[in-house]
Amino acid sequence: MINILGKNNSLLSQYLSEIRDKDIQKDRLRFRKNLERIGEIFAYEISKSLNFETKDIQTPLGTANQAVLSDKIVLGTILRAGLPMHTGMLNFFDKADNAFISAYRKYNPGGGFEIKIEYMSSPSLEDSTLIISDPMLASGLSMILAYKELIKRGKPKHTHIVALIASQEGIKQVQKQLPKDDISIWLGAVDDELTVKSYIVPGLGDAGDLAFGNKE
Ligand code: URA
Repeated sequence: MINILGKNNSLLSQYLSEIRDKDIQKDRLRFRKNLERIGEIFAYEISKSLNFETKDIQTPLGTANQAVLSDKIVLGTILRAGLPMHTGMLNFFDKADNAFISAYRKYNPGGGFEIKIEYMSSPSLEDSTLIISDPMLASGLSMILAYKELIKRGKPKHTHIVALIASQEGIKQVQKQLPKDDISIWLGAVDDELTVKSYIVPGLGDAGDLAFGNKE
């Protein structure tokens, strides 16, 4: 199932326009804050599809029969670009456990690149509801490798994959390589083009650099 939140105008569209804008995005604090606010919006929208149970809650004046979240949430993200959106998700799923995984592109001298994963920190994922977020789903490779690495820590009940901007190619690869029934995809926008270096066009540029500064 693919949910594209940007299809209906909302504050997400406003924040995304600022994130894409080549002048406004230079303000790193605003860039990170907008990603964080978008993480919160995704968390809220995803929460509508989760499992709740009713509980009797004692108020100062009586007993309220109240729905409370019953799924065990694990929030996963890909270092480093995923951190601001992850923070937003964690603001809303405040009791969630967290998984972090590093992924970087190692460019081959002859062209092309491989994704290298060198670090992972994760709780058991057995029977969890896993939500993995990364701002950009470009080739899809980082997300696919991250998912495959993470599920070595147990089989989630369901996984939600979240990206602010996805390419058509990234979506195709995720759908081809990951188990359809166990996965929902949540996107802000879908852009058509991918450069030879797997940057999304029009996209926003390099999310990690914009949030945290250039790397060597
Ligand atoms: N990662 C980014 O930060 N930007 C892209 O366009 C693709 C991958």
